[in-house]
Amino acid sequence: MALIAPSLLAADFLQLQAACDMLNESEADWFHLDIMDGRFVPNISYGPMLVNFFRKTTTKICDVHLMIEEPERYAEAFKEAGADMLTVHYEACPHLHRNIQQIKSLGMQAGIALNPHTPVELLKDILQDVDMVLLMSVNPGFGGQSFIPHTINKIKRMREMIDEQLLNVKIEIDGGVTLDNAQMIIEAGADILVAGSTVFKAKDPIQTIAALKAI
Ligand code: DX5
Ligand code: ZN
Repeated sequence: MALIAPSLLAADFLQLQAACDMLNESEADWFHLDIMDGRFVPNISYGPMLVNFFRKTTTKICDVHLMIEEPERYAEAFKEAGADMLTVHYEACPHLHRNIQQIKSLGMQAGIALNPHTPVELLKDILQDVDMVLLMSVNPGFGGQSFIPHTINKIKRMREMIDEQLLNVKIEIDGGVTLDNAQMIIEAGADILVAGSTVFKAKDPIQTIAALKAI
């Protein structure tokens, strides 16, 4: 059974209180919060201020996915906003080990995200320092895109690398997760599924989260 992390990016932003109430009432495990800067990715979403509003509504894990350049400039602000898990992109961090150390020293769990074209093997020498690897299964920047099938091979290889080193690193899959492909993704070795459109565009989001949990 995987953990389910609905992405609030797909919520109606004029109804965020209702979206948070729904998630809190549901079997969702984490709040997945997508931060975009208009530079690392083409889109702009929201920042620490909104993360702090989400934080105040919930005791669930706030899983903050930074799709931004120079994430070291904002790590402290996201800690103060209430992030539990802070994930930075491999592609945005020339001094990735330093970024991970900073996140840990601030008292958060640390994750590394990989774009669809970035090989999992590049994480070999840092895997022991992180709590989670986020594999993007779409190009980051927008919700509602289709799952890139090749991601399945990356999940399997990542799982092997983690198991070979006897590590307790979680694998999170982000982008295009649906009720139809969730089983295949979990079987490949995923621990956490992000779901944006699948949850928020559903007729019954609570039931959809329950259905994802039951897979
Ligand atoms: C995309 C974000 C995702 C997005 C997922 O850049 O990182 O978290 O919200 O949305 P869906 O589930 O609709 O693909
Ligand atoms: Zn995300």
